[in-house]
Amino acid sequence: MTDIPRHDIIRHLGHRRTIIGEAPGRVNLIGEHTDYSGGFVLPTVIPQTTAVAVAANSEPAARVWSASVPHDEQQARFVVGEEQRRGSWVDYVQGASAVLRAAGHPVGGFDAVIRSEVPLGSGLSSSASLSVSVLRALRELFQLRIDDVVLAGLARRVETDFIGVPIGVMDPIACALGANHHALFLDTRDLSWQLVRIPSTAEFAVVNSGIRHSISSGHYRIRRQELEAGIRALGVHEPREMTDVEMRRLETLPALLQKRVQHVITENARVLEAVDALRRRDMPRFGQLMNASHKSLRDDYEVSIPEIDRMVEIAQAQRGVLGARITGGGFGGSIVILTTAGNAARVAAAVAKASRDELRLTPQVLVPAPA
Ligand code: GLA
Repeated sequence: MTDIPRHDIIRHLGHRRTIIGEAPGRVNLIGEHTDYSGGFVLPTVIPQTTAVAVAANSEPAARVWSASVPHDEQQARFVVGEEQRRGSWVDYVQGASAVLRAAGHPVGGFDAVIRSEVPLGSGLSSSASLSVSVLRALRELFQLRIDDVVLAGLARRVETDFIGVPIGVMDPIACALGANHHALFLDTRDLSWQLVRIPSTAEFAVVNSGIRHSISSGHYRIRRQELEAGIRALGVHEPREMTDVEMRRLETLPALLQKRVQHVITENARVLEAVDALRRRDMPRFGQLMNASHKSLRDDYEVSIPEIDRMVEIAQAQRGVLGARITGGGFGGSIVILTTAGNAARVAAAVAKASRDELRLTPQVLVPAPA
């Protein structure tokens, strides 16, 4: 849990009534690049969170501080009701007040102090965790009647409508509804979800490569467009419901589009099998599915990079490892590793060390959270 130092709160909010909103980052266990074509995903939460302390002020404006960004960008102010995108972190806060107001909720002036432990560009949803935590803080401050499911939808609109980034639906839902020791099985077609317990015989580790990825960089959009082109050419609605005849037509597509659609078809099937394995507590099977997912993301969807492939390979070779894969949007970010119980910390440390020594990266172990 993120602690906002007391002296920061007092310095910026004084002794006013203060509300804290908080939300974790997320790591996707399996089901990558399936959430923008009505597929299945299986994320869980990480221990790192974003926390926001807010207090009402008597102005029609918001003043916001963040200790988690470079020094010269730590303060911002905007007029509530006149939110304008600026291309900086404050857009998540402006976006939160803008979407709340657009949905008919009264938002007045407020001051806020933000602190995030979720590293930016690590593929662990630092942005959704920020939007969800700000929305939670404002919900309580202005006593708005919004449940977490609706709040997740608003968090998504912060990014798609206000900021203009084409994120899928997984991140805000995972940050808003995820729970410790559980995987969140989400059907992104109808947004139905279930928490499935992760058996105590297994543990997950997450290592951030330190190579930053950004969804606003063109790659993510291009993959989405390629997938959409493939789906259109096949004349299907969503890859997950293709008939055998349509599957056969796959071969008539240009090779690149074929691979993109192929990844999504196989990845959706892997999620369903992974959920089944989780329910049966068959964690070795879950690990094999993670390995297969990595291969498909590397070869068919082509969202990995050589450094990440090597990190995954190093992880897969460690004792006690059941599976490993790239996680998140790709092109950098983090890897997620499944180990048998009691091995995650050692494996994560070994992967981090090898990535430093062999790949000259500046990796960071996030899960298990360093003591
Ligand atoms: C990013 C997006 C998600 C999802 C993943 C890939 O994290 O924000 O919606 O599309 O990439 O699985």
